[in-house]
Amino acid sequence: MTQLNDIRGIPTTVSNQKALDLYEKALVQLHSYKGDPVETVDEAIAEDPGFVMAHCLRAHCGSAMADGEFSEHLRESLAGAEAVADRGDDRERRHVAAIRAWLDGNFNKSVDILESILIDCPRDILALQIAHLSDFYLGDANNLRDRVARVLTAYDEATAGYGYLLGMYAFGLEECNEYARAEEVGHQALDISAGDVWALHAVAHVLEMQGRQQEGIHLYESRVTDWVPDNGFAVHNWWHLALYYLDLQNFDRVLEIFDTSIADGTVALEMLDASALLWRLNLMEADVGDRWVQLADKWEETIPNTGFYPFNDCHAIMSFVCAGRDAAVKEMMDRLNRYAAGDNMSAWMVREVGLPLANALTAYGRGDYAETVGQLADIRYTANRFGGSHAQRDLISQTLIEAAIRANQLNFARALLSERARRKDTAALTWQNTARVLEGLRLQEEAENAHRRAKALLN
Ligand SMILES: [Fe+2]
Repeated sequence: MTQLNDIRGIPTTVSNQKALDLYEKALVQLHSYKGDPVETVDEAIAEDPGFVMAHCLRAHCGSAMADGEFSEHLRESLAGAEAVADRGDDRERRHVAAIRAWLDGNFNKSVDILESILIDCPRDILALQIAHLSDFYLGDANNLRDRVARVLTAYDEATAGYGYLLGMYAFGLEECNEYARAEEVGHQALDISAGDVWALHAVAHVLEMQGRQQEGIHLYESRVTDWVPDNGFAVHNWWHLALYYLDLQNFDRVLEIFDTSIADGTVALEMLDASALLWRLNLMEADVGDRWVQLADKWEETIPNTGFYPFNDCHAIMSFVCAGRDAAVKEMMDRLNRYAAGDNMSAWMVREVGLPLANALTAYGRGDYAETVGQLADIRYTANRFGGSHAQRDLISQTLIEAAIRANQLNFARALLSERARRKDTAALTWQNTARVLEGLRLQEEAENAHRRAKALLN
């Protein structure tokens, strides 16, 4: 079969240069979240229907969504890849196998196959990006950092995609709590490409974790033209911007961002940001009006996908709980319980974290706060197993604290708040809640101090 080298020097089964150029264009679209890589790679396939990696890239775009809604896209693209896989070489056939494993919910097997490709071919940046996203979806912080680190010496500044590699590395460093290095590497990536929204997001995570709200607001608002227009990752970056305003308790601005830039999200990846923001507002007893209604309507359509990626399901349940959709709650819980009996990795994620968290959220909804505390206390240090970032999973800690206060478990709440204040002491809510707890414990003087601290942060 005809082989050409791709732009990083990797032999690739493709018979014409134009098809390969379109594949490279789609790869950049995938790295930058700008434009439609599926549309572009379809043009590549039209140029050369036997182009195995083009079929694989098309399929990987589906796995990159971590959403059962894309199973049909995956199946269809995988069929295209499998039909021509015999023409391909060993690396290309391993891509096909990784896609099959992902579609079957064997996420760990899929990542292992991608890693085997990277060991032999460290410049396969498609394998790297998909494995990196998989590490994110599996909450594997060490590999978010180290999988990128393992290939970095195979690149130099002139290698295509080097900047995007740094953006991935920055995010991995951040998830491993190496904040100073993450910020530095993230800015190096942004210097190479101001439109590297994953690198921008890595820096934003550092600022979130360190409670540097004003710097976070400046980071995003001074660069709006770099990360907003025609960008598939914009909703999540808007969510991060809203989190800074939430810490500052500027609810008007949070809701403005929600209404203009988050509420209209149509895929689970975007809808979960909407749920996560409204849930946090609920915990703070901010008035969100009827915003849960539209969101719950959209989540109800995802019920048939329950189980494939339980991180999504838990965010759906938040909307059902808050919109009073008891039937939807019951249906999703029944499906989760059935799915949990499976033997693939997504069933394991349901058992380990999905079900306990879903139980905690529904208990919170019916005012059974002691049950919420019990469920969440068990999973707070293992919740990474169902994926997401530290910032996303922080919702679990926030819910646990509020539930502990409402359950009148004030000593436990005080301990959790003490722990929280050590990690990030610039969120006024932490000190307001500390004051609430101390008042409950009749420690008036200490409560006054906490009140003063909260006030100072909001001035
Ligand atoms: Fe994020």
